[in-house]
This record gives sequence, structure tokens and C-alpha cells, in this order.
Amino acid sequence: MIIATRSGTVGVDEAGTGIPVLLLHGFPHDRTLWAAQLAAPPAGARFIAVDLPGFGESESAGVPSLDAWADWTIGVLDALEIEQAVVGGLSMGGYLAFAIWRRHPKRVRGLILADTKAPADTLEGQQKRVAMQALAVTDGAGAIADAMMPGMVGKTTRSSRPQAVAFLDEMLRRQAVGAIHDALDALRTRPDSTPTLATITVPTLIICGDEDTLTPVKESDAMHAAIADSQLAIIPGAGHASCVEHPSAFNALLAGFLTARI
Ligand code: MLT
Repeated sequence: MIIATRSGTVGVDEAGTGIPVLLLHGFPHDRTLWAAQLAAPPAGARFIAVDLPGFGESESAGVPSLDAWADWTIGVLDALEIEQAVVGGLSMGGYLAFAIWRRHPKRVRGLILADTKAPADTLEGQQKRVAMQALAVTDGAGAIADAMMPGMVGKTTRSSRPQAVAFLDEMLRRQAVGAIHDALDALRTRPDSTPTLATITVPTLIICGDEDTLTPVKESDAMHAAIADSQLAIIPGAGHASCVEHPSAFNALLAGFLTARI
């Protein structure tokens, strides 16, 4: 569905009833990244998958920064009349979850950090973002999909789960160039969230596919070491898009965490 918020129209899908769990996709995805999670919400949980600014069916947020997106996300919670939610994000969605925690901690009941990391971009990483923006403008979303897909899934998925690969490839190809461009600015300028980790006081579930090469397991190990009330789960045979690549394992982790800790 499409909802009206103070920041514009936003694409949202929901499933289940109970504790709100906001699901924030990565780059350059849309809310359908979470289709397998919304197909099976655990008892007592209300899963809410959101198209981030400019992606899917959401309007652009204007200022392309994760801080602006954090406020934008709170506008979505306000429109849904949700005071507090578990905030879950994959990769870029995790970077956004850190920004939401920094700016609006009272709205966060717990965190789910999937295939993400705390550090900011290196100088080389920032230069790659700028090059990718130029590529998006000249060659379109298909060229971005071509550049991103090798790292988007793990080797097991690449060799044995063609449907998951096709699902992600189509998702990447249909995103708007403006959204890709803005998100690359937001990613490039994001601050280092490493100092944030020790400030996190809510229960936190960290998930990573053991074949993730974009945000490798060592980044999850570092987050787990620094976040006091955290648990770490590694999904064997999954890469960066672990929620798509191994949904049954991913869903079981969410169910266990929400039941035991939230
Ligand atoms: C993502 O999946 O959101 C991206 O790989 C994040 C990034 O490029 O840093």
C-alpha cells in the first residue's frame, strides 16, 4: 500500500499483529526485499517493510543523508501511529538503523542488524560512490545492477538458487536513477557508527551470511563485541542478501529473538 506521511508518500507492506518491527532494505533495493519475512511473521509481531526514499513506491526525501532519512523514517512511524518499534535493517538499512538510534532512541525497542557494518566509507569507497553515480546517470539502473549483483549474493546462492538471484536482479534493475543517486550521497557521507555501538542499550540481533563479501562476518563480530546486549547469528550458505537467500533460517532467527528478547 501507499501511505501519506509528513515527508511525502511512502510504499509500505505489513503482515502480522503485535510488536511493530520496521524492516529497512539495503542499496539499491525496495521493500520487496522482505517478501519472505512478510510471508511468515511470527506470532505477536507486526512486520512493516518500507520503501526508503525514492525507492519502490516512495517519494524522494529531498536531503540525501542518513540523518534526514532517520527523521523521514520517524515520519513513517508517526503516520502509522507507532510510538516504538524494533528497527531492523539490512546493509544500508542497518546504517539507517544506527542513525535512527542516534537521533530517536526512545522510538527504538530493539535492533536487528543484518549484513551491515559500523564504519564509514573509506576515501576509496567514497570515490567509488561518485563513480557509481556517474554510471547510473549515463547507463541507468541496469548498469548498477550489473555492478552490484556479484556481491549481492553468496557463492552458494549463485550456484544453486537461481530464483533468488533473478528476484534480486530484477529488484535492482527497476529502481529509479534518482533514488540510486541520492542513496549514494547518503552512503558516501554517512558518519562512522563505531562510537555509536557502545551507546546501544536495547536488545540487538546481529545476523550475517557466512558468504557475505560486501559486509563480511568480521564486521558483525566487531558489532557484537561492542554492543552490550547483542547476540550474533551466522547463516551458513548465505551471502549479503541473507533474508532472501536463506529465508527459513533468517525467519527462525527473527522469531527466536522477538519471542525471547522483546
Ligand atoms: C547495501 O546492500 O545496502 C550496500 O551494499 C551497502 C553499501 O554499499 O555500503
